[in-house]
Amino acid sequence: MLAQGPEVAAFEAEFSETTGAGHSVAVNSGTSALLLGLIAAGVRPGDEVIVPSFTFAATANAVSLAGATPVFADVDIDDFCLAPTDVEARITDRTTAVMPVHLYGHPARMDAFQAICDEHDLLLVEDAAQAHLATWAGQQVGTFGVGMFSFYPTKNMMSGEGGMITTSDAEIARMCRLLRNQGMERRYENEVIGFNTRMTDLHAAIGRAQLQQIRGWTERRQAIAQRYSNEIASVITPTVRPEATHVYHQYTVRVAERRDDFVEYLTSNGVGCGVYYPTPVHRLPSFALDICLPNTEVVAAQAASLPVHPGLTDAEVGTVIEVVNSWS
Ligand SMILES: Cc1ncc(COP(=O)(O)O)c(C=O)c1O
Repeated sequence: MLAQGPEVAAFEAEFSETTGAGHSVAVNSGTSALLLGLIAAGVRPGDEVIVPSFTFAATANAVSLAGATPVFADVDIDDFCLAPTDVEARITDRTTAVMPVHLYGHPARMDAFQAICDEHDLLLVEDAAQAHLATWAGQQVGTFGVGMFSFYPTKNMMSGEGGMITTSDAEIARMCRLLRNQGMERRYENEVIGFNTRMTDLHAAIGRAQLQQIRGWTERRQAIAQRYSNEIASVITPTVRPEATHVYHQYTVRVAERRDDFVEYLTSNGVGCGVYYPTPVHRLPSFALDICLPNTEVVAAQAASLPVHPGLTDAEVGTVIEVVNSWS
């Protein structure tokens, strides 16, 4: 069995067990998870979905691919995640959903988003692509609304390529199963117009093996991050809100001035350093919107991510700290 089969079913069951999700539906990428999750949750052409602009483009792409309009809202400078007050200000009578992103592995403020969605009768969808096992007030991300995870190779766990939709709603889960397989649950009895976004058993087998390791890897990421936060003094280290468990998909510092020089300095001293994301999504050529999101501009100019892979040795972590602290 190479296509979707028993490995996929086992991966879904084990993912639900690990995350506390009611239902998990595996697909071929995180982007497919976002797209199918939005459609299955009821987002339709003409709707507006509020998303951050400081994220990977897939967040907004999925909204557009569902035929809806992404409405970009600002983030908080402290945790890089969607700002609840700015979301509220952008709600219109066309808004049907709010989609926070748990960016870098730090959960967005889910109590605030749940309250906003309850008050305005909106769907809550979570882009948890970067945040496997992260929690807000003790509850795992992906279980507040309809959740979507990515298993792209750079993520905290991977399956080669792959994604997962999580939901407590059996009807949404069933619709995702239909949509990923040409609208069929039973062969040649197509109920709706669907995609082919199935995960293969090969990818699921990799995902299952990774799932066994994710807790240990996350603890190692957290230990490395703790050391960075204790010992780095030359730049602004990341804030973790008291309700949050951060899983450090990225350890992202803010460099108040000359960020690009900082990246160049680290790279030329043998320390990998990435910028996620240099251009806010609303300003990319694919959206090209002339709107003003002041905090988004600040973080896009200041963010720099340090190595936080669980395979780093203590000596390598020490070298990163030394090089970062020698920058001025
Ligand atoms: C925030 C965010 N959303 C969505 C995606 C899309 O996931 P994928 O690359 O698996 O399609 C990614 C990852 O690439 C991401 O980082």
